[in-house]
Amino acid sequence: MTKPFAESCAQNQQVILDVLKTLFIEPGEVLEIGSGTGQHAVFFTEHLRHLNWQLSDLETEHAGMKMWLDEVEHNRIKSPLVLDVDMPEWLLNNKDYIFTANTTHIISNLQAEKMFKHVGECLKSAGLFAQYGPFNYHGSYTSESNKNFDVWLKQRNPESCIKHFEQIESYAKANGMTLFKDIEMPANNRVLVWVKEQVP
Ligand SMILES: C[S@@+](CC[C@H](N)C(=O)[O-])C[C@H]1O[C@@H](n2cnc3c(N)ncnc32)[C@H](O)[C@@H]1O
Repeated sequence: MTKPFAESCAQNQQVILDVLKTLFIEPGEVLEIGSGTGQHAVFFTEHLRHLNWQLSDLETEHAGMKMWLDEVEHNRIKSPLVLDVDMPEWLLNNKDYIFTANTTHIISNLQAEKMFKHVGECLKSAGLFAQYGPFNYHGSYTSESNKNFDVWLKQRNPESCIKHFEQIESYAKANGMTLFKDIEMPANNRVLVWVKEQVP
């Protein structure tokens, strides 16, 4: 098997790192959903040495991810967990941070709703969920390229699509999270950051 390589990760990792540095400030544990090749985790943990990073994805992605992990010289990345948003329970809790990149538009609307249920259960009080990717606002695409990307996504899988911010916000609120920041990123992407309400 050839070690997988995602060109998109190489292109966006620095700008996402710059944002994560301002968000994931305190030492803690990050759960990543849909880690893909694992490239983001490798890059981010080299620069964010105060974080431990838990990889996860569908089992099909694990072999490739482990090839990246084998080359890492520190022990701040944990071997991938099988986490599918369709699983009824993830049985994880008390995570300081959750991160996901470019997964929300791959999964269906129903799966995005389920992802927020899991995130709400896994995050500790005042924990942050940072979600990178394209989103629509007020029922519209934010660019022609996102519109074309959405057509391509739906041709590939009719259930995949760019999600509407307002819909995502309703899933967050239903699971005890509110918008902390909405950060503009290059190439018509965003980082949506949700904070778990503090339990008194
Ligand atoms: C476009 S890739 C993004 C991978 C990586 N985060 C990145 O930015 O390169 C989408 C990821 O979502 C994962 N995924 C798809 N369906 C999923 C599901 N039902 N539950 C969890 N992850 C899923 C895929 O396996 C894949 O790794």
